[in-house]
Amino acid sequence: MHWHILGAGAIGLLWAAKLQNAGHQVTLILRTAEKLAQYNTTGCFQIINDDKTERFFTEAELADNNTPISYLLVTTKSFAVTGAFASVQHRLTNDTRVLLLHNGMGPQQQLTNENPDLEIWAGSTTDGAYFESPYHLVRAGIGETCIGRLSACGNDSLFQELQEVDEQLQQSADIHTVLWRKLAINCAINPLTALFNCRNGELLKYDDRRAAMAQICKEVEDVAKALGITLFNRKLMEQAWDVAELTSNNHSSMQQDVSHNRPTEIETITGYLCQMADQAGVATPANHLVLDAIRGLSPSAR
Ligand code: PAF
Repeated sequence: MHWHILGAGAIGLLWAAKLQNAGHQVTLILRTAEKLAQYNTTGCFQIINDDKTERFFTEAELADNNTPISYLLVTTKSFAVTGAFASVQHRLTNDTRVLLLHNGMGPQQQLTNENPDLEIWAGSTTDGAYFESPYHLVRAGIGETCIGRLSACGNDSLFQELQEVDEQLQQSADIHTVLWRKLAINCAINPLTALFNCRNGELLKYDDRRAAMAQICKEVEDVAKALGITLFNRKLMEQAWDVAELTSNNHSSMQQDVSHNRPTEIETITGYLCQMADQAGVATPANHLVLDAIRGLSPSAR
């Protein structure tokens, strides 16, 4: 398989490495000529795993190329997904398979609705890695990735092909619910860690933070219930508590974005939740409060 990867962040490069290790051809699609020139100074990226450093010499190019794309993996930040997809749309054919692996919800549904003839998959991952410096990635833990086909068209053979790339890979016949579960956890943890400027575990140490988290969780459960989505087989607060405890030393992605004054994924996390709540007529005041607060803190993604 020849995979093109849009989004050379941590997840994009981890997948580039997995695909290359399994013998597939990979091309990174970089956003600007400056980024391409910077990458081409070495023509490779590195992954540090325990004490071992592996170098991956991977091709890179810009979107405005005319070679067709057979397999497209999109791992950009959620607010950049639809724009990045549009930048390569002229290179997609009716046989192209697309896998969207990003936080939040909205872009997956939009792209699937707008491209009914395209085989589109979506996924959710707990894989972790962070950059030590540009193109030097440190593997923070081996997580699990679950994917499922969103589009009515196509077949399930992509999963079998990708299982050879990632042994931990899971398939779900109901990826929509999987994405909602991740969304629910992100709603519970990400905005609050950004607002309190704290690590995940520090949400659990103070009464006011726990109370805000509980209120957010209750509202997310109300929305899911109104939409007929089964979240977890226990209270969302209990599930989110465990995730915050397990990742207690981590800075959430939103806390990092706010502290570096970067655009956040709030619109596809809490923004999506509030939009669904408003459409279903469910009140979500605590979620609206953190949505407005994060909007006020971070630069717009547009
Ligand atoms: O987005 C994140 O940072 C993570 O998915 C998690 C675990 C919810 C918070 O660190």
